[in-house]
Amino acid sequence: MLSLGSADLAIDLGTANTIVVLRGRGIVVDEPSVVAIEHMGGAQRVVAIGHDARQMIGRTPENIEAIRPIQDGVIVDFKLVEALLRSCIERALGTRPFVKPRVVVCVPNRLQDVERRAIQDAARFVGAKEVFLIGKPIAAAIGANLPIDRPLGNMVMDVGGGTTEVGIISLGGVVVSRSAQIGGNHFDKAIIDRIKGRHNVLVGQRSAEDTKIQAGSAVVSLHTRRCHVTGRDLSSGIPREIQVSSDDIAEAIGSCLEQVVECLREVLKESPPELAADITEQGIVLCGGSALLPGLDQYLRDKTGLPVVLADDPRRSTAIGAGLLLEDPTTLSRVAF
Ligand SMILES: Nc1ncnc2c1ncn2[C@@H]1O[C@H](COP(=O)(O)OP(=O)(O)O)[C@@H](O)[C@H]1O
Ligand SMILES: [Mg+2]
Repeated sequence: MLSLGSADLAIDLGTANTIVVLRGRGIVVDEPSVVAIEHMGGAQRVVAIGHDARQMIGRTPENIEAIRPIQDGVIVDFKLVEALLRSCIERALGTRPFVKPRVVVCVPNRLQDVERRAIQDAARFVGAKEVFLIGKPIAAAIGANLPIDRPLGNMVMDVGGGTTEVGIISLGGVVVSRSAQIGGNHFDKAIIDRIKGRHNVLVGQRSAEDTKIQAGSAVVSLHTRRCHVTGRDLSSGIPREIQVSSDDIAEAIGSCLEQVVECLREVLKESPPELAADITEQGIVLCGGSALLPGLDQYLRDKTGLPVVLADDPRRSTAIGAGLLLEDPTTLSRVAF
């Protein structure tokens, strides 16, 4: 007999990307958290979700809009979150649309109760049998194989698109956590501002992100990388290509990175001394897509003096951790909100 359990899903509902793990199969969906809608008179219709919708950012005619439904850890449009969840669940289950899955959703810590309830309702509405919401830090800690059940301070830092989430976990529970509205999207904005200020050229959001991924760095380094980016010259109005170096990017995002460190410091300040002492030895596990920014681990090490370890697959460790919880109902019911 086919086990119904095999249709259980874990969803990392991120500000930038949504990743879905199907129990027994691993990651089956990995798409940008973007929904494109078409306005028709007063009504609106979803025209694309995920990669296709991301392609449309900055390239849409007036009646089409590409939106990230969760921005800086806050839901800006409940209907679109529902559309995103529906699409992810349908894609994950493929030809098994009649199976009602148990769904674990990892959410940013800063979501309000009303937003959490909305996600829960949306997941049920689109077919989930049971819904469990868990915080990102605990999922990330499990995904990074930290010994979260021991009486020991485990610290994780998830630097994503719109938020940075930091948590200290001990004995299976979150002891201190914090979330700041700072992440890769803000780095991109800082890069746009820098290029505008320096070159009088306006580049798009996606070009700025591509530049960051190609040549980004958290620290000014000996191994400078360079890349080209094209934007609109603000005086002539004509497209112009300019060169950007990793040092330029490190300087541009400097104040964003300070906010990331500030979030970390606040958590350490609130931590009970025993756990803080553990962390000076255990260190901090760094994950989230922005953990892939070269030199970020080094930067955090320099700023805090603490050991910083990059998670194995930083962009996906939260989803992987939530997926592991599907196999462990006892821990799941303990850590769910
Ligand atoms: N190689 C890379 N270098 C720097 N930043 C990266 C890299 N790859 C992805 N990112 C950034 O990671 C962020 C997305 O991280 P993610 O964990 O998926 O976000 P969220 O969990 O908020 O959805 C984006 O801002 C993206 O630009
Ligand atoms: Mg993430």
